[in-house]
Formats: sequence, C-alpha cells, structure tokens
Amino acid sequence: MHSFTFHPGPRIIAGAGKAADLAAFLPPGPCLFISDEQLVGLGLTDACREALGESGREPILFDRVEADPSRATLERAVEAGRSAGAVSVVGFGGGSPMDVAKLAAYLLGSGDDLDSIWGVDQAHGQRLALALVPTTAGTGSEATPISIITCEGGVKMGVVARPLVADWAVLDAMLTLGLPRDVTAATGIDAIVHAIEAFTSARLKNPLSDALAREALRLLGENLLTACEEPGNVAAREAMLLGAHLAGLAFANAPVAGVHALAYPLGGLHHLPHGVSNALMLRHVLQHNSEAAREHYAELAGILSPGCEGEGTQARAALLIDRLDQLARKTGIALRLRDYGISFDEAPVLAREAMKQTRLLVNNPCPIEEEDARRLYEAAW
Ligand SMILES: NC(=O)c1ccc[n+]([C@@H]2O[C@H](COP(=O)([O-])OP(=O)(O)OC[C@H]3O[C@@H](n4cnc5c(N)ncnc54)[C@H](O)[C@@H]3O)[C@@H](O)[C@H]2O)c1
Ligand SMILES: [Fe+2]
Repeated sequence: MHSFTFHPGPRIIAGAGKAADLAAFLPPGPCLFISDEQLVGLGLTDACREALGESGREPILFDRVEADPSRATLERAVEAGRSAGAVSVVGFGGGSPMDVAKLAAYLLGSGDDLDSIWGVDQAHGQRLALALVPTTAGTGSEATPISIITCEGGVKMGVVARPLVADWAVLDAMLTLGLPRDVTAATGIDAIVHAIEAFTSARLKNPLSDALAREALRLLGENLLTACEEPGNVAAREAMLLGAHLAGLAFANAPVAGVHALAYPLGGLHHLPHGVSNALMLRHVLQHNSEAAREHYAELAGILSPGCEGEGTQARAALLIDRLDQLARKTGIALRLRDYGISFDEAPVLAREAMKQTRLLVNNPCPIEEEDARRLYEAAW
C-alpha cells in the first residue's frame, strides 16, 4: 500500500429533528446563526433556533446569504457576529450558508485577515465552535475543510484548511424533503462529481476516500432520480444526504479536479448553480480523461451498471460516461452551454479563466491545457 494521510470529518448527529439537539454541543453565549432567507421563510430553521434560544445560546440570525456567496456577504456576517459577541457559529442551508459560516467562524475566532488565508493550508488559527446543518444533498460542505467565496470579477476563490472542518454536522433528511426538483438534480450531480473526482484524484487518492467514494456513488446513483420524481420519498432523501456526506469526506482527502475547474468559470461569469455547471462539463471532461483514468472509470462503471464486469476496461469506461450522461439528462437539467445563453465565442475566455483553477487542475488524472479547455467548452456548447 502507498503511504497516505486521511483526516476524518466532523462528529455526526443523524436523524429526523436532530438539528434542535445542537444547542447542547455548543458553548453557552450568543450564536451566529447563518442561513438564507428562503430557508428561514420556509420555517426550516425554527426548531433549531428555538432550541438554541431556550438553552441560553441566543441565536443572532444572519439570513442574507445568496447563492455563490460574495466576499461582501461574508464580511457582513463576520461583522454581525463580532458586534453580538458570538461564541459559536451555526451554518444552516446549502453550500452557500455553510461556506459563509465556516469562514465566519474562522475569521471571528482567529482574527486573521481573509487575504492572508486564500489557497491551501494557509489558515492555522483557532475558530469559534462550529456546527453545520446541510439542507441540500449536496455539496458535502459540512464534511470538508473548504469554503468557496465569489470575489471581484466573479472569480471563485477557496480557503482549504483543517480549522474549517466543523465540530458537528447534523444529517436530517427531513430538511431536504421540500427541495425543488431543479435544486435536487443539480446538487445531486455535484455530489456524484465529488465521488468520481475523488476516486480519480491524481495526487491524494487513498483507500479510505476510495471506499467512501464507491459507496457515495452507489447511494447517489440509485436514488437521484427517485428523489427528483418523488420529492417526499424519505428513504431516497436519506440515501442522497448520506451519499453527499460520504462524497464530501472522500474529496476532503482526495480533492476534486478538472470537472470542477471548468465548472467554476461558468458559475462565476454566468451565475449558473454550482451543480448545473458541473453537469454541463461532466461528460466532456470525463471523455478527455478516459484514457488516463480508464482503469478507475472501469471500476466505477460496475457500481452504476452491475453486470458489466465481463467487458473490457475501455468499454466499461465508456459505459460509465454514458450512464452518467443519461442520469443527468433524466433529471431534466439542460446540458448544453447554449441552453443558458452562453455564446460559442466565449470558449477562449472561459478557458483562460479555468486555467486560474490551478488548485484543482493539479488533481486531474491528465493535464488540461488552455487549448484543451477551449475545445471542451466548445464540445459542451
Ligand atoms: N465547501 C465545499 O466543500 C463546497 C463544495 C461544493 C460546492 N460548494 C459551494 O456551495 C455553493 C452551492 O451550494 P448548494 O448547491 O448547496 O446551493 P445553495 O446553498 O446556493 O442553495 C441553492 C438554493 O436552494 C435553496 N434551498 C436549499 N435548501 C433547501 C431546502 N431544503 N428546501 C428548499 N430550498 C432549499 C436555497 O435557498 C437556494 O435558493 C456554491 O457557492 C459552491 O461553490 C462548496
Ligand atoms: Fe462541487
């Protein structure tokens, strides 16, 4: 076995209504509660906020987090926490509120300056107590040491550092029953991409991430369409939430690569949801990788298409790519760049932007040069 390092994620509490139990695990005192207006409007945060208040951990509500949160939003959240004297932070929502919560807890606790911690392993300070409650399935952000913030010019910047791993994560699938079909589909594809890219990560692939990624792909692949078609199906929602979490743990240790690198410019410049951007580039980047990652794709094909084991590795790798494409199509996500008003001529600009995602490109099973990226955007058009 090659030597490897594996960092576990947060402690987990799973089950219906468990978000209200969080109060007991956080220190007494004001709690900065970060969510978004939609979730608060739906009443999803009520029980958790009430329990915090009743236990003497007054929740300071910050619900102005937008999709793909900006630096200004993060700064406002930090200010809200500072002026209230927060001693803990809860992030309640999809990846957007959770990512803001992670960095807010770190900046409030450490006093560090945001500009000194971008990139990998630049943050070494102490954060405030932190609990995360995902309501999408999902980014897996509740499992990862990663926070993604949209900065000037629509560039997505990341902080990746151990202190961003939460103390606690609550997995309550009941919170995801009201997810609209388009969000279920997009966030589910994002989670599937996490599993696949972790399994083929060029630098830090390891046996624990592999096991987590395989099981994540099984859970997500078997349940995504059911969750889309029967939104109230609790068993499918539970499988999706668990699958997204396992995929998060996998890619927290074996980081994602080319699909995400090429997806980010679409999110940053065109405000496409993160999962949609991934769905748009998935087929094309996997085809680009298919020779370099052939053995790994062939292994994963058996999870989505049991019974294909007798076929050769090339046929199975092609089968995996096909099965994923069919799955994405059946969710109803439109899969061409032109469907989102993006013009063919933008490919060179998108390719230039994608080259800035060096943190991700180094993990791809084979190089993606600017010229390759342009070709892949054109193929996706
Ligand atoms: N930190 C990480 O490891 C990581 C990984 C992948 C993506 N991300 C980031 O996460 C963000 C995307 O997160 P996301 O895809 O979860 O979406 P999101 O948090 O932006 O939410 C999308 C929409 O879904 C709604 N929503 C969420 N949960 C709901 C529910 N239960 N019922 C009804 N509506 C609900 C929200 O109100 C919002 O309108 C991006 O900024 C992306 O870059 C982070
Ligand atoms: Fe992602």
